[in-house]
Amino acid sequence: MKRSTDLVYLHQVSKSFPATLRGGEPIQILESVDLTVQRSRAIAITGNSGSGKSTLLQIAAGLMGCDHGEVWFEHEKLGEMDNRALSALRSRRMGFIFQASLLLEDFTASENVEMAAMIGGSSKGEARDKAHEILSLVGLSARLSHRPDQLSGGEKQRVAIARALVNEPAILFADEPTGSLDEGNAAMVEDLLFSLVRQKEVALLLVTHNLSFARRCDEIHRISERNLEVIG
Ligand SMILES: Nc1ncnc2c1ncn2[C@@H]1O[C@H](COP(=O)(O)OP(=O)(O)OP(=O)(O)O)[C@@H](O)[C@H]1O
Ligand SMILES: [Mg+2]
Repeated sequence: MKRSTDLVYLHQVSKSFPATLRGGEPIQILESVDLTVQRSRAIAITGNSGSGKSTLLQIAAGLMGCDHGEVWFEHEKLGEMDNRALSALRSRRMGFIFQASLLLEDFTASENVEMAAMIGGSSKGEARDKAHEILSLVGLSARLSHRPDQLSGGEKQRVAIARALVNEPAILFADEPTGSLDEGNAAMVEDLLFSLVRQKEVALLLVTHNLSFARRCDEIHRISERNLEVIG
């Protein structure tokens, strides 16, 4: 039963994909999965490659539909919203970080973050102030006018974190955010992500292979055999 304090609520969610482009028996990826993310809580999702972690994250964020079950975000049922309402919800209330930073290559670090702020409803001036503030929080005040090709991998991921948090979302969805970084940069980005999430009281749904990263969350869930089990 969904409670009013639940931010994300998945109830009996199932998802399959067609076996091939030409059809065939669908492959069941998730079966009757339940998941609740409460405000300010950090939840880790682990599981083998191909087990359905990214699929689950995308369903929870309304980026992908499910075959059966319900997905709620705050007081709204995602399956009943049109694309326009969904994208407005995503830009105002959710932040995203993926394995690759997916920054716009022709724009500076600051512009990448400013654009997210403007999509979230800020004026040009406000967007610039917010971008500079959050980029300074991730230690990049001296890199505002650098384009992505002039930034290191760790710096790009820090810009991606700044972009994901600039609209003060209720939740951050992170799919292996340190997966493409070397050990040193991964540890730094991991520390930064946790300190910002805790400081700003943002909920976190984190997909990771890294158990020590997962252990910093309040709960660890594992996908196996199409189900989600709590392992810590
Ligand atoms: N659009 C799609 N069409 C068909 N099959 C898909 C599609 N997306 C994912 N799959 C399949 O669903 C399964 C789960 O994929 P998913 O990306 O969720 O795995 P994952 O747990 O995130 O893996 P990894 O750790 O490698 O990122 C995989 O077997 C994948 O091939
Ligand atoms: Mg994945």
